[in-house]
Amino acid sequence: MTIKKEKLSHVKDRAFQPDKLSAPRDFKMPAITKHYEHLVLEIGAGKGMHALSFAKDNPSTHLIAIERTRNKFAAFAKLASAQHLDNLSLIHADAIAWTVHGIAPDSIDKIYILYPNPEQHNPNQQWLNMPFFEFLLSRLRVGGEVVLATNIESYMDNAEQQAIKVWQLPTKRYQVAADSRRTHFEVKYLARAESCWQLVMIKPEGYHTRFDAWNKMQ
Ligand SMILES: C[S@@+](CC[C@H](N)C(=O)[O-])C[C@H]1O[C@@H](n2cnc3c(N)ncnc32)[C@H](O)[C@@H]1O
Repeated sequence: MTIKKEKLSHVKDRAFQPDKLSAPRDFKMPAITKHYEHLVLEIGAGKGMHALSFAKDNPSTHLIAIERTRNKFAAFAKLASAQHLDNLSLIHADAIAWTVHGIAPDSIDKIYILYPNPEQHNPNQQWLNMPFFEFLLSRLRVGGEVVLATNIESYMDNAEQQAIKVWQLPTKRYQVAADSRRTHFEVKYLARAESCWQLVMIKPEGYHTRFDAWNKMQ
């Protein structure tokens, strides 16, 4: 199939190939039994500090929090089991494969990527450099946001440039407040008086990706 580039809202040539990704082992959809006003995704939730407080503070939102590393996920699951939050789904999986198989297009209000692995020796693995980012944007609703935080200024500089130049997204960048305590990594960096940055990217009206109609869940 030939892609008509002028119809796309970004300028990434190499396309992500969702068909090549098998479902994560033991994949099953979370049982969301109630209607929630909003659906939010957190990628790389670590031990779940942000996910747990977010779910507690936002009872009308359902949060799907994904963490790949076994011991971090186990710590997250242990903390979550004491809190009984119906609006939180914990997923132990690779977020790329899980998102492909578990998230419908145009369904997510907000995506958090808080203090991702820096991938300084492998910049192709930084989230905004990956072809997968186009797929991720296709899952976001118009007006929805991707929130990225990092303590690495060069990571933030690159992410901001990619967001604007490649992904053609309206962005807001700012410094994280020194008393913010959203995640374990944020607490650690701010305690050392390091600067942390946040980039908020908004999906504008009329934004098109090559995956807008791609839905594994039908
Ligand atoms: C530096 S830690 C930050 C954890 C947490 N967000 C925090 O700020 O405390 C990055 C986390 O992302 C997770 N991660 C990296 N790539 C992932 C992927 N593809 N799918 C799910 N989790 C991933 C890692 O396992 C790690 O726990």
